[in-house]
Amino acid sequence: MGKVLVRTTRLTKTFGHHIAVDSVSLEIRAGDILGFLGPNGAGKTTTINMLLGLLQPTSGCIELFGEKAAWTKSQLRKGIGTLLDDVQFYPYLSAKKNLTVFSKVFGKIPNPRIDEVLNIVGLSSRGDDKVRDFSHGMKKRLGLALSLLPDTDILILDEPTNGLDPKGIKALHNLLKRLAKAGKGIFLSSHLLREVEIICDRIIILRKGRIAAEGSVNELLQKTSSGKFTHKTPHYCRNLEEVFFDVLKEAK
Ligand SMILES: Nc1ncnc2c1ncn2[C@@H]1O[C@H](COP(=O)(O)OP(=O)(O)OP(=O)(O)O)[C@@H](O)[C@H]1O
Ligand SMILES: [Mg+2]
Repeated sequence: MGKVLVRTTRLTKTFGHHIAVDSVSLEIRAGDILGFLGPNGAGKTTTINMLLGLLQPTSGCIELFGEKAAWTKSQLRKGIGTLLDDVQFYPYLSAKKNLTVFSKVFGKIPNPRIDEVLNIVGLSSRGDDKVRDFSHGMKKRLGLALSLLPDTDILILDEPTNGLDPKGIKALHNLLKRLAKAGKGIFLSSHLLREVEIICDRIIILRKGRIAAEGSVNELLQKTSSGKFTHKTPHYCRNLEEVFFDVLKEAK
């Protein structure tokens, strides 16, 4: 197993009386793609926002690279590549210019890196076009280019394939697998159960802010609806969708 890049311990966030994230302890490891699943409102984005320093946890702690330090927002921005749900680009600037403007947050990024990330996400030929003229999927690709810009060890992606066409999805999956193989730790929040089943090494299912199930893909596929592991149900007969709904039922 790769070394732990991010560890949360009993991470909790409340909004008024509502507990959005409830005692979540997880690890993102080098070389691993960790899938983060859960219904709408389960607490995925809130967890991600705490990992990125965009929200202050109510309690619990976050360790990065083995250090419990109080990380500043700017240190987190430089240490973690991220694709958020709703990146707002400047519509009247070109894709390249947008990346140049946003790159300032990460410190010094060499110019060739901007061309490199545009190439990685398949937007090389559109680099000089205004973002105003981009389709939804193209903006998503540009968001991904932005997340790759600082070349960090940790990548946190909130629904990265949402809005991509099948070719874009496949290219992204291959890219994520390549990046994990190269030693990056990837945290992938998604609603696409098949996507998570195909590319993730480990999975966490969140329900009402709490971890309802976690394990490797095979471990979860072998889990029966009673919560026990069995060899009677061959895992190839089950898929993550069945497991997901079983887990949510059990957690009621
Ligand atoms: N700023 C906020 N103020 C009050 N409540 C919030 C705030 N942000 C999130 N919440 C609440 O916290 C809970 C978790 O929301 P969150 O956005 O983390 O869910 P999610 O798992 O990302 O859902 P989705 O799949 O819809 O993106 C929800 O009940 C939501 O209403
Ligand atoms: Mg969300």
